[in-house]
Amino acid sequence: MTAMYDKFAAFYDLEYGHKEDDLDFYLSLAQQYGAPVLEIGAGTGRISMLLAEAGYEVVGMDNSMPMLKQAAQNISTLPDNEQNSIKLVLGDMRSFSLEERFPLCIVPFRAFLHNQTQEEQLQTLQCIYDHLTPSGVLAIDVFVPLYHVIENSAWDDEINQDELADPEAGVSISCHIEHNPAIQVLAIQNTYRQDGKKDKICKMKYRYVFRYEMELLLKLAGFEVIQVLGSFEKAPYNYFSGTAIFLARKRA
Ligand SMILES: C[S@@+](CC[C@H](N)C(=O)[O-])C[C@H]1O[C@@H](n2cnc3c(N)ncnc32)[C@H](O)[C@@H]1O
Repeated sequence: MTAMYDKFAAFYDLEYGHKEDDLDFYLSLAQQYGAPVLEIGAGTGRISMLLAEAGYEVVGMDNSMPMLKQAAQNISTLPDNEQNSIKLVLGDMRSFSLEERFPLCIVPFRAFLHNQTQEEQLQTLQCIYDHLTPSGVLAIDVFVPLYHVIENSAWDDEINQDELADPEAGVSISCHIEHNPAIQVLAIQNTYRQDGKKDKICKMKYRYVFRYEMELLLKLAGFEVIQVLGSFEKAPYNYFSGTAIFLARKRA
């Protein structure tokens, strides 16, 4: 079966492999709450690898085989002991079942927003709940739906070559975004252009969530919200920051 990110896998590291703003934050959570860490939507291993390099055991789950194949290739560059600390698992965040229980589950870089309906959101949270230890903690980061952005029904964006991990790769990216406010969904179409090659088109969807909607979803799934942050530097939630991070634990 195909997954939303299958076609993105060839470009993901070029576009986001060098993203670093969230690394210290997720590392600090592992230091605070311990391991093994379950990373949902582990992608090409950007964060799982960081945690393994710091000595933590990680299970990285993703529903895209091409993303996991790229992760395996990236992980193969690590020393053996760090490679052995990462277990990659093909699975769907809405319906996974693992033997292990985790003191920390992280859902970085907006992966939670790939749940398209309230039912899917709750299925994901309930699956995570079932995989946490009794005092286990969940961390989810999402973007804040800014009103001046979501007042639009469609817009275009460009990612310049010098914003990519390798500006010399000769790839440019155009994004077209369509917004359906009735269902809070942004449908994103990226066109990847490279000299001498056929354009590649990749599509994905985000269902955005508002702060108190997310808090309610967490409560409905049995969590207690510990903190809502507005930055990876752990500043309190701030609508204008553009980022919202939810920390929650199982309700006693
Ligand atoms: C924005 S990427 C984040 C990758 C990685 N965590 C990072 O921070 O670089 C989102 C990831 O979520 C995965 N994903 C989307 N829907 C999923 C689902 N239903 N179950 C598991 N993974 C999913 C995608 O395949 C993709 O790898």
